[in-house]
Amino acid sequence: MPGDFLPPLLLLALFGLTRACLQDPASAYRFTGTVCRLTYPAAVVLNEKTTKVIEAAFQHAKYPSMQGEKSLLFVGKVSYGLDNLEIHNLSIGRSQFELFPGKGIGLEISNVSAIFKGTLQYGYGSWLVNVAQTLDFEIDSQIDLGINPKLYCGKGKVAADTSDCYLTFHKLRLHLQGDKQPNWLKKLFTDFITFTVKLVIKGQICKEINKLADILADFIQDTAAHFLTDGDISVDIGVTAAPVITANYIESYHKGLTNYKNTTSVIDNSAFHPSQLTEDRMLYLWFSDELFNPLIAAAHQDGRFQLNISSNELTELFKMSLSSATPEYIEQCLAETATPELRVWSSSVPFVNTSTMGTAVWGQASGELFCGGQSTPTLSFITDVYVDVKASYADKKLLLHSKVNEISVINAELPSQNKQVYDESEIEFIREAVEKIGIPKVLSVLEVEITRLMDKQGANLFDIINPEVLPRDGFVLTQMDFGFPHHLLVDFLKRTLQ
Ligand SMILES: *[C@@H]1O[C@H](CO)[C@@H](O)[C@H](O)[C@H]1NC(C)=O
Ligand SMILES: *[C@@H]1O[C@H](CO)[C@@H](O)[C@H](O)[C@H]1NC(C)=O
Ligand SMILES: *[C@@H]1O[C@H](CO)[C@@H](O)[C@H](O)[C@H]1NC(C)=O
Ligand SMILES: *[C@@H]1O[C@H](CO)[C@@H](O)[C@H](O)[C@H]1NC(C)=O
Ligand SMILES: *[C@@H]1O[C@H](CO)[C@@H](O)[C@H](O)[C@H]1NC(C)=O
Repeated sequence: MPGDFLPPLLLLALFGLTRACLQDPASAYRFTGTVCRLTYPAAVVLNEKTTKVIEAAFQHAKYPSMQGEKSLLFVGKVSYGLDNLEIHNLSIGRSQFELFPGKGIGLEISNVSAIFKGTLQYGYGSWLVNVAQTLDFEIDSQIDLGINPKLYCGKGKVAADTSDCYLTFHKLRLHLQGDKQPNWLKKLFTDFITFTVKLVIKGQICKEINKLADILADFIQDTAAHFLTDGDISVDIGVTAAPVITANYIESYHKGLTNYKNTTSVIDNSAFHPSQLTEDRMLYLWFSDELFNPLIAAAHQDGRFQLNISSNELTELFKMSLSSATPEYIEQCLAETATPELRVWSSSVPFVNTSTMGTAVWGQASGELFCGGQSTPTLSFITDVYVDVKASYADKKLLLHSKVNEISVINAELPSQNKQVYDESEIEFIREAVEKIGIPKVLSVLEVEITRLMDKQGANLFDIINPEVLPRDGFVLTQMDFGFPHHLLVDFLKRTLQ
């Protein structure tokens, strides 16, 4: 996600597309479905990578040719030009940053040392008529670079304004190849080249950093948007307000609106308040129930909540001992038919409401048991399900833990016999089987599927340290430390260098 410098530092916090940005974050909270808080310790990790990006900026800057002329006593007019300026042996000392509350980020890259090589042409008289000499030169330089990026939202996106960029030259020493030139000429070129090179380098480096910041912003935003997209379901993570910078964190506010086919969800009563987040972990991601509900509804409508279990897998599941006796037709189906199949699906839009106890999920689950390849189900049932679910993430896997609150069988029939099930003990068997076999099975499938989706988007490539998923009233807060995903930077630089 996808830097090591200014850009990542800026940009991780910035993902988002926006149409309208509210000036005052407080008035935007209600419309904010998800929030990202990146703290100072995270910025330290990102800053370690800053030098890589600055290096790329220097190396990718195009240095234009420059020309000039000067009239000299006794000699007449001297014309000269500077071509093929290239950078060699670049090394970057260190990079430091500071967060300026309400303003922006201050970045100091000190001790950039580089050798610039190029060609100098000069001639007496008219430039065109009389280009006489070509001379290679090298410049040893030692530079400090300062950038004070400001975050803003505009032009449909959150962006970093890096126009406050300055270079300080500690050393700029010219070496001319061969030393046949008269001293006055050397002096003239030294002044000219030194001045010109300073100007060119400053302009080009700052321009390149600006460009890199833009590219990186796009890159992070694309990566984040893609992360939340699967099939026809996507989440608009456009920003609702400009990012906030305090002395200890950068926080960005996002819409979190689910798009599914031609519908877009609405969030206008979000529970977000900055006091819900602390400042001691590196990264916080806050998710409103108002984001989850439309997302889950879209998954339901898209037919994602369906599961078919057959044959041995089904027989294995029913080996679990339940306290109620297995009805004979089920026992027969499992024991005597070659390919029993159970199809289960969510038959109403699930609803979630998170509290400190976990995320309460209300749903309706229906099932059909098919035996011996028959097209009419032997058993068909509908249940109301109310469970608390808590999530955690460990060893790059999502884990779901459940506590059943209530399960009730609202209908059960035996379609192949054209009979309704009235027997209390049979209904209790179905209820118990849903609780002890069905729900754990469905959650284990969801764990695998959600982990797979997250991995498809690259979650497993992040070095996530001690992540916590905390259910709260109306939202879920995740907090974690991380090592910077080097692959993201590599991807980004590759893309930039193309
Ligand atoms: C640049 O680095 C190369 C390889 O490390 C070295 O051989 C060369 O002498 C260096 N050039 C200058 C001008 O220091
Ligand atoms: C700057 O770099 C040079 C060589 O790369 C080193 O000798 C010098 O100590 C560095 N200065 C600072 C202030 O880091
Ligand atoms: C999209 O909306 C149009 C009109 O509002 C409707 O006719 C169409 O069926 C919708 N398409 C889908 C895939 O829901
Ligand atoms: C389950 O089986 C039915 C009937 O074969 C099929 O229509 C449905 O797509 C299957 N669902 C899944 C999730 O495999
Ligand atoms: C969610 O649960 C809380 C109590 O845990 C309740 O006050 C609130 O009304 C519920 N919200 C919805 C939308 O049902």
